[in-house]
Amino acid sequence: MSEFLPGMLGVFDSGLGGLTIAKAIRQRLPEYQLAYLGDTARLPYGNRSADLVYRFTTEAVGYLLSQGCPLVVVACNTASALALRRLQREWLPVHFPDRRVLGVIRPISEYVADASRGGRVGVVGTASTVGSGAFVREISGRNPRISVVQQACPLLVPFIEEGWGRRPETAKLVRDYVRPLQEAQVDTLVLGCTHYPMLRAEFAAAMGEHCFIPDPAAVVAEKLADYLARHPERELQISRGANHRYLVTEHTDRFAQLAGEWLGHPLTLEGVDLQP
Ligand code: DGL
Repeated sequence: MSEFLPGMLGVFDSGLGGLTIAKAIRQRLPEYQLAYLGDTARLPYGNRSADLVYRFTTEAVGYLLSQGCPLVVVACNTASALALRRLQREWLPVHFPDRRVLGVIRPISEYVADASRGGRVGVVGTASTVGSGAFVREISGRNPRISVVQQACPLLVPFIEEGWGRRPETAKLVRDYVRPLQEAQVDTLVLGCTHYPMLRAEFAAAMGEHCFIPDPAAVVAEKLADYLARHPERELQISRGANHRYLVTEHTDRFAQLAGEWLGHPLTLEGVDLQP
């Protein structure tokens, strides 16, 4: 059977929010062909158990690798937090020992651990991401002097997906969620969910001007560029060109519209079935 995505740089997310990461990668590394996969049939991942997220993630990443992607970036914070380490240690060496799968938690954690001036970092994410403690482990692992305060914001993904991003109710919700982080006087805030950059202005207004809020997509794209520069053998395997593919496990008009909004221009979504 011929491969469907030969040499393409895979980007996986539970849905369409990861298109912000795909967009940043396209801007920073415009020469590579991307294959984006959003598991729209099974989203959201953010309130699911680690075992289920692991199963969904191995199926989706396995699809991209089996279709020819030499490298996959897991853009979903929840999947990176709950499934990536196990996938890299147990699953990848058995099924695709010559491929690589990277996530978003480590590059963002490294960046904020180095950037935080006051040593107090806040993390917002889905309930599953926060419950996993992955950001705390990674940030403290890089710099043990940093204290990390987390806050789950489970209502924000559905609000954004409903198109309520600019409503005053959403700004109020953001203010309520970040209150414990303000009280802890965090100097840096991690937007640890694909969707939250859509509410960056609301988070910035709620946290005040002294709090630094990095753009996670730009950080991930920069760290990926650095990774490829350090691994030229892998970089050479990635195909060049602008024929990017956008795949989803469930195709609806609503998803097509949302995808255009996330990416900033209209695109063609292709439906795929992850089962072999
Ligand atoms: N992509 C998820 C994340 O970054 C948010 C959406 C979901 O819950 O599936 O955590």
